[in-house]
Amino acid sequence: MTIQSGTHAIESMQLEERRYPPPPEFAKNANAKADIYNKPLEDFWREEAQKRVSWFKPFDRVLEWKLPYAKWFLGGKLNVCYNCVDRHVEAGRGDKVAYYWEGEPVDQKRTITFKDLQAEVVRFANALKKLGVKKGTPVGIYMGMVPELPVAMLACTRLGAPHTVVFGGFSADSLAGRLNDMECELLITQNEGLRKGNPVPLKKNADAALDQTPTVKKAVVLRRTPSDTPMKDGRDIWWQDLVKDASTDPKTCPCEEMDAEDLLYLLYTSGTTAKPKGIVHTTAGYLVGTATTHHYIFDIKPDSIYWCAADIGWVTGHSYIVYAPLCNGTTGVIYEGVPDFPDKDRWWSIIERYKVDVLYTAPTAIRTHMKWGPEYAKKHDLSSLRLLGTVGEPINPEAWIWYRENVGGGKTPVVDTWWQTETGMILITPLPGVTTLKPGSATKPFPTVEAAVYNDAGEEVGPGGGGYLVLKRPWPAMLRGIFKDHDRYVQTYWSKFKDVYFAGDGARIDENGDFWLLGRVDDVMNVSAHRISTIEVESALVAHPKVAEAAVCGRADKQTGQAIVAFVTLRGGAEGSPEMLRELRAFVGEKIGKIAAPANIVFTPDLPKTRSGKIMRRLLRDVAENRPLGDTTTLADPAVVSEIDRRAKTEAAKEEASA
Ligand code: PRX
Repeated sequence: MTIQSGTHAIESMQLEERRYPPPPEFAKNANAKADIYNKPLEDFWREEAQKRVSWFKPFDRVLEWKLPYAKWFLGGKLNVCYNCVDRHVEAGRGDKVAYYWEGEPVDQKRTITFKDLQAEVVRFANALKKLGVKKGTPVGIYMGMVPELPVAMLACTRLGAPHTVVFGGFSADSLAGRLNDMECELLITQNEGLRKGNPVPLKKNADAALDQTPTVKKAVVLRRTPSDTPMKDGRDIWWQDLVKDASTDPKTCPCEEMDAEDLLYLLYTSGTTAKPKGIVHTTAGYLVGTATTHHYIFDIKPDSIYWCAADIGWVTGHSYIVYAPLCNGTTGVIYEGVPDFPDKDRWWSIIERYKVDVLYTAPTAIRTHMKWGPEYAKKHDLSSLRLLGTVGEPINPEAWIWYRENVGGGKTPVVDTWWQTETGMILITPLPGVTTLKPGSATKPFPTVEAAVYNDAGEEVGPGGGGYLVLKRPWPAMLRGIFKDHDRYVQTYWSKFKDVYFAGDGARIDENGDFWLLGRVDDVMNVSAHRISTIEVESALVAHPKVAEAAVCGRADKQTGQAIVAFVTLRGGAEGSPEMLRELRAFVGEKIGKIAAPANIVFTPDLPKTRSGKIMRRLLRDVAENRPLGDTTTLADPAVVSEIDRRAKTEAAKEEASA
């Protein structure tokens, strides 16, 4: 498809002329200085790998690049858990806090030092060993934001067992699909999560998933709430019972020596087909890439209190709540619940309590706080904040300014960081002591990263023009493929243009070489900073017995970035009804997860198609974008339907004329 330029979003960005150079004090003490951009790729990463990671055996070579697969730090041996936990304790930093954890109920808090973390990880790893987990055993994890989630991930990496963490908001079907794809042998879950004071039935979902996952033989269940939880004999074991007699002595469970390129984890993400892709991340490159970016971009100091307010179930949480901060020995905050429990100032009370100096979140969260008003932030002393970050979708300049003014006291740099599940680490970003910020721009590629914008013909577009974002050189944390699917890996990322990685995003480079991200160009929607593919939602809808056909697209939404609009044709010419609407939303929620439930459903007797039978998605997008759709739905709105019809006819006539 071609990039739509001249849309409102692009125009408003072009008009954005505010500039924020780094505050001089910040620049003087910053981890990254301007000369960081000067080093050649291999020198840069060799030095970072030596500085930031402890190796059991040093690597022989920095990079082997056999397109489309890269290997980094070849020959090196290391262990991620050792780097994230043990070595800090060995170096005498065992009493430093690794995580301040806040449960959603205000009275539930835990302070976990690196020594505590080590004890918990060793104990749980010993327990997993009893269940037969060893190097190479695939493990599924389906939990909420409890400290035991990073403990479980680290225990896996200690044993050399690759994990896949499935976001706790995903449904039983989504969980089952991922466990089956990775052929997991064990699932770690919890009885219930908490969300706005209500229980989230994780174990119940897991039970439904495990009915369909023949390879999973055991489930470890953390008791998070006192509720009754049915346990299946022979399969389910309480976490608390399992660890009772397990030793916490690190000598009883040494860190497995792993090769630089051994599988660390899979994380599933949406693409343009219904089947989620198992993104492959390996050991050394991932750890070096995330730890390095974390150090420079977030300007982490030894006494930093850093809070990445994402969910560990997404890549942001994997890289920047768990692996990078722990590798850097940073004190982090983990919060279990929603931002408005018990009130809308919960986040700000957390920042005040722990004196957080770096906050990293998504534009959708900032817009939610904007909607609630700045008075909630004003109630708290946020003066500890030195730096703010965003990720997940383009940030509108208004939200950027609001964030800086009302959260950052009008003084903090705001780093808008672009990256993906596939990239593993941040790739386009300001460096807060170096870069002059422009609200709405992710500014420059990280040192050694070579990004460009191509037109349809695969030529580089000059300053000002829109096009497709590509990456021309490998980076350490890049994906090492899609699990068990080489062809799809090549097709998705390496086929649109020769020899460059195609990110699926539109972008523009301005006259200063700064990048402005313009959103997805494929059939992937971005809802509350989470990627959801149109076809996945369509498949879920069509699985409903009353649905004949469905087409789905995203429309702009003030709060969630994009919202999902579904066009649905019911079987037997049946008409839509409010009940049907509710039923379908709940159905998609069950199939995929609530986040994928359409905001609007338009019931229409027919979907507009080309003569070759392809759904005219662009047309549906136009309809969804240009029509004021009701908050929850527009039911068989005759005007919408006739609009679809009218446009379909016009398109058909055009096709006819050009045939
Ligand atoms: O479209 C881009 C958007 O999020 C996509 C990646 O989504 P996911 O793999 O779920 O990872 C999200 C967190 C890393 C990208 O293809 N995106 C991410 N960050 C930005 C962004 N769009 C614009 N600006 C960003 N800073």
